[in-house]
Amino acid sequence: MKSVFFSRFFILLPWVLIVIIMIDVDSKRTIRAPAAGRAARAQRGARSGAPGAAGAHNQSALPVIYAITPTYTRPVQKAELTRLAHAFRQVPRFHWILVEDSTTRTDMVTRFLAGCGVPYTHLHVFTPRRFKRTGMPRATEQRNAALAWLRQRRGRRDAGVVFFADDDNTYSLELFEEMRSTRGVSVWPVGFVGGRSYERPLVSEGKVIGWYTGWRPDRPFATDMAGFAVNLQVILANPRAQFKRRGSQPGMQESDFLKQITKVTDLEPKANNCTRVLVWHTRTEKPHLANEPKHRKDTVVIEV
Ligand SMILES: *[C@@H]1O[C@H](CO)[C@@H](O)[C@H](O)[C@H]1NC(C)=O
Ligand SMILES: *[C@@H]1O[C@H](CO)[C@@H](O)[C@H](O)[C@H]1NC(C)=O
Repeated sequence: MKSVFFSRFFILLPWVLIVIIMIDVDSKRTIRAPAAGRAARAQRGARSGAPGAAGAHNQSALPVIYAITPTYTRPVQKAELTRLAHAFRQVPRFHWILVEDSTTRTDMVTRFLAGCGVPYTHLHVFTPRRFKRTGMPRATEQRNAALAWLRQRRGRRDAGVVFFADDDNTYSLELFEEMRSTRGVSVWPVGFVGGRSYERPLVSEGKVIGWYTGWRPDRPFATDMAGFAVNLQVILANPRAQFKRRGSQPGMQESDFLKQITKVTDLEPKANNCTRVLVWHTRTEKPHLANEPKHRKDTVVIEV
């Protein structure tokens, strides 16, 4: 009888020890969890610039990234802005300048921004109808409105980097860390533009010496809107630099703008000497809405 008891005891003993060890490990984890939560909250505080919330990395010392996004009402607008917000929300020291092509700030975009979790400024400027023909450069007025806002509201003491973030692109988080160190004007490759899988500045010994592009290689700066960033102080030091309608052809806006503020030899190559693609001109396919009812609409109004 006794030997049966002892044999059972010794068979069970290792299992009991394993269970005790697992419970111990588990309780240590639950103790650590709240600390991680606090760290995340402190980081969020630092991002929004809350006083006294600077973490170990002191993010308040980082230049602010000002992303300028022209946008207009269309079926996929909210979906596009949602994708952008998901990326932007994760970038420390970020300020989103959203400019609607509209006579007012629309309700949809106003509501969207209020809940998007990104520090933002909401502007609007209406593009005159005569400029809305195909073959005309787009979003000129909206980008210039954002530049005017920066020139009015920011000064010599503000460290920042300005980037034109159209709402039909996809952005890697690494792109923002690359552009943050921009001293003058920085450049990098862009995916799915110029009729190629990517375009990029050609770099030799750390300097831009030309452009790998499928379209108009004669452009002085053959880059896409998503392919460069400008230090805020360069924007402020060139108060008349802006995007032009007059004399500017579609696809020449980037080049015409950059000509006003920099030289090719001064460009700062990012993304591993322009060998990595960190932004893609993905565009969202136009949804098929042919079966949208003309009469007998849904009984409730639903924002899409
Ligand atoms: C963080 O950096 C800012 C600007 O350089 C400085 O004013 C501030 O005192 C620093 N905060 C901490 C906690 O080190
Ligand atoms: C870019 O090229 C320059 C010159 O060849 C080199 O010194 C530098 O380390 C390179 N930068 C990167 C990030 O690879």
